[in-house]
Order: sequence, then structure tokens, then C-alpha cells
Amino acid sequence: MTDLVVHDAAAVVVGPDGDGGLDARENAAVAVDDGEVVAVGDTDAVTREHPPENADRAVDAAGRAVVPGFVDPHTHAVFAGDRADEFAAKLRGKSYQAILAEGGGILRSVRATREASDETLLANLRAHLDAMLAHGTTTVEVKSGYGLDTETELRLLDTIGRAAEGHPVDVVPTFMGAHAVPEGRDADDYVDEVVDEQIPAAAEQGVAEFCDVFCEADAFSVAQSRRVLDAGRDAGLTPKVHAEEFTRLGGAQLAAEAGAASADHLLHATVEDARALADAGVVPTLLPATAFGLGAEYADPGPFREAGSPVALATDFNPNCFSRSQAFTATLACVEMAMTPADALRGITRDAALAVDRTDGTGTLREGAPGDLVVLDAPSHLHVPYRFDGSVADLVVKSGVVAHE
Ligand code: NIG
Ligand code: FE
Repeated sequence: MTDLVVHDAAAVVVGPDGDGGLDARENAAVAVDDGEVVAVGDTDAVTREHPPENADRAVDAAGRAVVPGFVDPHTHAVFAGDRADEFAAKLRGKSYQAILAEGGGILRSVRATREASDETLLANLRAHLDAMLAHGTTTVEVKSGYGLDTETELRLLDTIGRAAEGHPVDVVPTFMGAHAVPEGRDADDYVDEVVDEQIPAAAEQGVAEFCDVFCEADAFSVAQSRRVLDAGRDAGLTPKVHAEEFTRLGGAQLAAEAGAASADHLLHATVEDARALADAGVVPTLLPATAFGLGAEYADPGPFREAGSPVALATDFNPNCFSRSQAFTATLACVEMAMTPADALRGITRDAALAVDRTDGTGTLREGAPGDLVVLDAPSHLHVPYRFDGSVADLVVKSGVVAHE
């Protein structure tokens, strides 16, 4: 008995083929059993071995393409309130940093989040996970970071853990107490609190897997960021870094030195930074929707590719960047960053999985990979970046089970 057979698809994208291509098979099928891909390839061959009539669920995907479930490796999805009025202020020319300096931006979301009940935070996050799933995302990283005190940071991590329970989307939790310096606090004092109190408490709680830091002129210096990442690593949390977003401060080199899973944003990274990341095996993760929302310049994927790195893409979903669609990220990557549709699809699937240390085949449909896939409402993977008017996902499967249709 097979859990799921998707057959007669116009194409099935298996994943990177090693030559910069995607290994797209035509008139193909995928079979999933016990949550894993057990066969992929020509429909006749797959269905001979796994007859659709014997499967728990069979999907005739005629005229439609199948791609791996999308992976979103960078979001700040647990928060309360919104910042639509700041969006309007930015349109009138006010900068992100000026808003933050006045106590808006992250600090305003911190106030709203601290005041929100556990139920509100949980309901908000679940709604965001539902929307991501409907857009084809089957694995998402979610950071804490709108608490900025021990009690609220733990509450946010607990919310992330509870939202993940019973939700089809796989959630990768990240501790980010060093997201901003809280109002009225000295940065060094606050880093002491993150290192001495928050990280040990988060490690004891046991939800977080990664530890991220905003290494930026108006947030944490390289030295302060290093302290946070070292303490996180000592507590069993793998480093991640927000690096070179508004200025080139040295976050990329720090990510390389710390052996981070990823360095994210990288708008101002240099060729040397790209080489350092590649040498250290740190996955550069680019966030075009953030640049889009800020009206800023986009990161250049060229140096990272030339250095031999995978290039991951993420939504950066947060109250300043309200996109829960990795397909829209792919559109922006193609239109604004000269990535090909194949590059962009890799960026939101396999390369994104590498940015969250998922090396079990997540983001591919190879045999043995998790049975996470999207049946598109379209005949080819080119439609993922091509269509930007809504969800291109017709049916979303997580671990071999239809989770959205
Ligand atoms: O990755 N840069 C820091 N963190 C987020 C923004 C968070 C916010 O503005 O609320 C980011 O873009
Ligand atoms: Fe971020």
C-alpha cells in the first residue's frame, strides 16, 4: 500500500541536477510512503510499482507540474499588531532607521507583542502558517525577537513550539533575543542579559534550534554579535546572522568565522565576503521582498554563485515585510535580481533547506526525501515566478498527506 501517488503530471521537478539545472521529468509521477518519496520518474514505471488504485490517495495531475514543497528559511512570523501606517510613512520618504530611532519599527512591534495574550500570539502565528501553506510552503523557519526580555522571548518560543504542534507545516524555531536594543537600555548591558539569562533559559526550554543576531550599525556590533553567537553555540544553538543589510559592518565575515548555517540579507556584502561564506559553507540567504518593501536596492546573487555557494531565498515575513509567499520571492528574484526561474526555484526549495541545515533531501523529490510537494495550477515550474497574482499552488502535500487543496 502506498500513501500517495501523484501521476500523469506534465512535469515533476526532482531537484538540482548538479549542472545548474533542475532535473524536470516529463509525464512523470511521484509515490510517497511513510512520509518519504519512494519512487519518482516516468508515470508508467512508477504506477506499475505503485498502482494509484491501491494508494490511500491518488492525484491525477494531468496538465499540471509538480515541484518540491517550498522552504522559507527566514521569517519573524510571531508578533502582534501591524505597521501599515509606517509603510505609508516610508512611501513619503521616511527611512526604516529614522522610524526605529523614534521608537517605531521593531520597538513598536515589541510593545504590541508584549501586551498581547498567549492566545492572540498563537492564533496570529497559526493564521500565518495557514497562509504560507496555501502558497506552497511546507517548511518554515520562525524567529522570536519581538520580546526582548527573557519572559517574552520564552513566551514567543513556546508559541512557536505550540503552533508547530498539529500544524502540517514543519517549523524550524530560532531564538533572536538580539533583534534590537530595547528602549532605554544600553547595548552592552542588554547583550549581557541575552548571554547570561536569555540564552541559558532558551536552551533549557528546548524549543529553539538556531540563534540569530541583527549585526547592524543601529543594533549590535560585530563584537556584541560574536558574544551572542558564541553563547548560543555553547548552549547548543546553531548560529545565523543578519548581515550587511543597511551597512557593511562585518557580519558576513563573522558568520564565516562562527560557522553559521546562513548569513542573511547581504545587500552590502563584497566579493571577499562571498568567498569567505563559500569557504566556510555558510549559505547566503537573500530576501528580495525586504528590498521591495523598503524601496531599497536588491542584493546581487552573482558573487555568491561565482564563489560556488547555493543561494537561498526567503520571504523575511515580518510586520515590516508582509509577504508569506515564497513564489512571490521567486518572482522578485527573477525580475529584480536577474536570477533564472531554475535558480529561483532552487533558492526557495533545496538551497533554502540547506540554510536551515535540512540535508535529508528536503526541498527535492529524490527517493528518500520527505514527501513534501506542490501540485501547481500550471503546466510547468516556470509559472512559479511568472504568476504573481496569488497562489500558484493547486494542492499542497506534507509528508505524503494532502494538507491544502
Ligand atoms: O530581517 N532586520 C531585522 N529584522 C527584520 C525586520 C524586522 C522588523 O522590522 O520588524 C528583517 O528585515
Ligand atoms: Fe530578518
